Amino acid sequence: MKLLSIKKLFALAVIVLQAVFIVNVEAIEQVAPQVDTSQLPTQAQTWQEPNPLRGNAHAIALGQSAFNQSCARCHGENAVGTRSPAPDLRRIGGRCKNIEDAALRQRCQADADAFFIKSVRYGKQKFGIVHMPPWEGMIAPELAWALRTFVESAPKGTGIESLSPTVEK
Ligand code: HEC
Repeated sequence: MKLLSIKKLFALAVIVLQAVFIVNVEAIEQVAPQVDTSQLPTQAQTWQEPNPLRGNAHAIALGQSAFNQSCARCHGENAVGTRSPAPDLRRIGGRCKNIEDAALRQRCQADADAFFIKSVRYGKQKFGIVHMPPWEGMIAPELAWALRTFVESAPKGTGIESLSPTVEK
């Protein structure tokens, strides 16, 4: 009798785990961004940090479009990730600019770039559960850098400032 209930428990656990797995797989369907990367500088066709497109206006516009197509669903529209299910990407490397020493500041930014690009290329898995699928093969290096460039230039607000009541004077 006792053995049977353990067996039943085990069977139930298997069913629950399968259900979780199926939901997980369904939730991470990927959308490949449709943007024209032909005008991005060819030096950006590398996975090597530091970001070769930092500050490039065309990369920011392109990155924003790609971001809203493929990343916004989890990381927030226009990278406003304050209440998004996945981390707010605007904070990656955000503290580097406070470093006075130029060489150290660049090192800090390059590290943040490497972290960003590695996360995008290989995705995020924890204990066999995919939190974010890998994007390599779907996103070329120059587009990944355009995404990085957009995200680090995106305004830091919560996106609800415009909804705050304005006080009449
Ligand atoms: C299906 C949801 C989903 C989509 C779509 C998605 N991500 Fe993620 N991403 C996540 C989750 C969840 C994490 C956190 C994973 C963890 O910490 O284990 C994450 C983490 C990251 C990280 C590391 C952030 C950190 O602080 O740890 C980067 C960088 C990133 N994503 C970039 C992107 C980019 C760029 C795109 C679009 C091309 C994208 N993501 C699309 C869910 C998603």
